[in-house]
Amino acid sequence: MGKSSAFAHPNIALIKYWGKSRDHPPHLNIPTNDSVSMTKESINTAKSGIELITHTTIEFSEHYDEDTGFLKTDEIIVPFNEIQMKRILKVVDALRKLASTTLNFKMVSQNKFPTAAGLASSSSAFAALATSAADALNLNLDNIELSKYARLGSGSASRSLHGGFVCWNKGYSHDTSYAEQICPCNEFNIAAVIAVIDRGEKEVSSDIGQEAAHSSVFNQIKINESQKQAVEIKKAIQNDDFTTVGEISEKSCLYMHSVMMTSEPPLFYWKPNTLKVIKAVVNTRNNFFQTYKMVEEGVKQKEKEGIECYFTVDAGPNIHCLCRTEDLDAVQNMIQNIGIPENNIVRVHQAEYGSKIVDEHLF
Ligand code: PMV
Repeated sequence: MGKSSAFAHPNIALIKYWGKSRDHPPHLNIPTNDSVSMTKESINTAKSGIELITHTTIEFSEHYDEDTGFLKTDEIIVPFNEIQMKRILKVVDALRKLASTTLNFKMVSQNKFPTAAGLASSSSAFAALATSAADALNLNLDNIELSKYARLGSGSASRSLHGGFVCWNKGYSHDTSYAEQICPCNEFNIAAVIAVIDRGEKEVSSDIGQEAAHSSVFNQIKINESQKQAVEIKKAIQNDDFTTVGEISEKSCLYMHSVMMTSEPPLFYWKPNTLKVIKAVVNTRNNFFQTYKMVEEGVKQKEKEGIECYFTVDAGPNIHCLCRTEDLDAVQNMIQNIGIPENNIVRVHQAEYGSKIVDEHLF
């Protein structure tokens, strides 16, 4: 037993998870539907100061009288609050049980990007925690097995154990609810530009918000549709079919936000600028398809206009514009042209790995 550190990347959900199944104990975080995501890595970190990585170090030792956890930023290091510690303990206690130990731990975690701002910091945080804690406890678990433990801290974290494209099978128990890779990095041409609308912490965390999902009249429709969408999108990813992936992703996002907005109490994660970017994405895409048709039909001679891109938004105001890799410049320009400053734009591509052990320790 000892000390271990891990890096993990967050993921962006293409088919959204929103709400736990009521047929299973709530602490297991068994979802109501399968979900699908892309694990993401930032490209232009210098301008935005946002690097989509969580770095976590954990040590188990008889020298510790109690369990402690700290969140590190560039300037300060603060203890996790009681609610955060409870979530951390869900993961670590399950792993300690597996390792048959009662040793206390010290843990330090650093997100190299804004925490709890709708950039999926909990997905990378709990993936890094499960990976480092299992290693420090000398448990030899593969990424599928680790995904089950990451899920206990945050559902979406189960998907951040793998790189590329990932499906979290909802399952019906701790052992059957796990995430697996659909296809490795770079076999499907898609990237994204994130417009960071607000770096602040969201008012309602996703685990609190999800408790209300069942109160929306649209929830069951969203669940049924998501199951179908997960099957369709997996096929489209494997067939390198960008258009279908984009269309399904956008629908899944809108279904989830419809549930959020019609829950009791209603939840509105969008800000005015979120909608501004959504409209710009839809406009440029309409323009693309219109001129594409005209050029194909010979009505129009000149070059096609617009960009084929799609949007998706998680539980926060920030928005991901999904596009082909070769359109990253054009999408970034479009977002800047509607007034989003360059330092709030992050270009992302697929991450090769989800989480991995590293030698660099935080203490
Ligand atoms: O993992 P949680 O409990 O933070 O839930 C995340 C939910 C969304 O990010 C909104 C969607 C998803 O599938 O990641």
